[in-house]
Amino acid sequence: MTEKPILVTGGAGFIGSNFVLSWIGRKGSPVLNLDKLTYAGNLGNLAGLKNNPGHLFIKGDIGDRALVRELLDRHRPRAVVNFAAESHVDRSIHGPEDFIQTNVNGTFHLLQESRAYWEKLAGNEKNTFRFLHISTDEVYGSLGPGDAPFTESTPYAPNSPYSASKAASDHLVRAFHHTYGFPALTSNCSNNYGPYQFPEKLIPLVIMNALNRKPLPVYGDGLNVRDWLYVEDHCEALRTVLAKGKPGEVYNIGGRNERKNMDVVRAICSLLDELRPLSSTDNYASLITFIKDRPGHDRRYAIDARKIERELGWKPAESFETGIRKTVQWYLDNMNWVANVASGEYQKWLDTNYTNRGTA
Ligand code: NAD
Ligand code: DAU
Repeated sequence: MTEKPILVTGGAGFIGSNFVLSWIGRKGSPVLNLDKLTYAGNLGNLAGLKNNPGHLFIKGDIGDRALVRELLDRHRPRAVVNFAAESHVDRSIHGPEDFIQTNVNGTFHLLQESRAYWEKLAGNEKNTFRFLHISTDEVYGSLGPGDAPFTESTPYAPNSPYSASKAASDHLVRAFHHTYGFPALTSNCSNNYGPYQFPEKLIPLVIMNALNRKPLPVYGDGLNVRDWLYVEDHCEALRTVLAKGKPGEVYNIGGRNERKNMDVVRAICSLLDELRPLSSTDNYASLITFIKDRPGHDRRYAIDARKIERELGWKPAESFETGIRKTVQWYLDNMNWVANVASGEYQKWLDTNYTNRGTA
């Protein structure tokens, strides 16, 4: 690699793989992709990059200090973009330990090695190096119906083991900038959806269950609100933060697409009624089933994205309506991908989370 690469962690997961694909598609600098390939990592997402000299995949853990050090010293990246994480709230409820290992300890080790590498750089290389930490709006806690959306100065109030572990990692990133002058930036984004999302998350799970004529599980009363962003809009925001963001700053990313879960599920059902109709008397919404709520379920998230819009000039391209149509169509066109990820481990997860859960 002659041009300086970027090191992407978690680049075989949902957002990471979308980021790597569009980064390389736009002729960005080469990518070193470090991913542990947990259940959520899938090299099939990156099949389009096979034999592409701009993409080097390394299977490994962000907490493996020796490996990270070796990668940094050998390839001398100009930036680290940290997507690697355990990302599913329900899994964090059933087993929080992996979340602490990767999201807290792993991020800490990655920060330590990245700082040591940065400290040895000189001149322009040192001045332009960036560490971009990808985080979530869940660190801000839960909003009431009339509350203003989260800003960058909303106090942290994480409610799940997942969001607590992400909050801890955000604090470490902040402290590394404040204490050592390390050029780190943090982005806190709302719920993403789009191609390659693992079908444990609401939108792909509902699409997949509907196509298999299985119940569409809605937690509680279905009135929890999430603020949805099409994944490519998130990737564009991250490219913008990397190029123009100020070290030490935090940027909230969201698309002003607040929707109740029930409305999201109904929107998917009506798209499927149009694109893959059942019989003339049946519709997908008849599969909707209310089940027992997620413990500690946050009621509402909403992002105030005015800072990134104003200071960096980013705006989302997709509305929820255009993005969800693209997404449903992508899953219909990529049923092989879905069949491949719905493996034995995935079936075990469905049993853990959904069997004997009872109705709401
Ligand atoms: P994902 O679960 O789909 O992918 C995570 C990836 O990280 C996987 O490829 C996995 O193999 C890898 N990974 C896990 N532990 C690792 C380790 N110790 N070392 C190296 N790789 C490891 O997650 P996602 O939905 O793509 O989320 C990516 C990031 O964005 C996460 O940090 C998440 O907190 C954040 N985020 C997600 C959303 C969302 O809606 N999905 C929204 C905002 C922020
Ligand atoms: O807000 C950003 C976060 O969005 C990210 O940080 C997380 O990594 C990502 O997983 C996502 O978290 P959520 O918990 O909001 O996403 P999930 O898809 O799991 O759930 C979305 C909503 O749908 C939530 O209110 C719970 C509900 N739900 C979820 C599932 C899986 C259901 O009603 N039924 C389900 O089967």
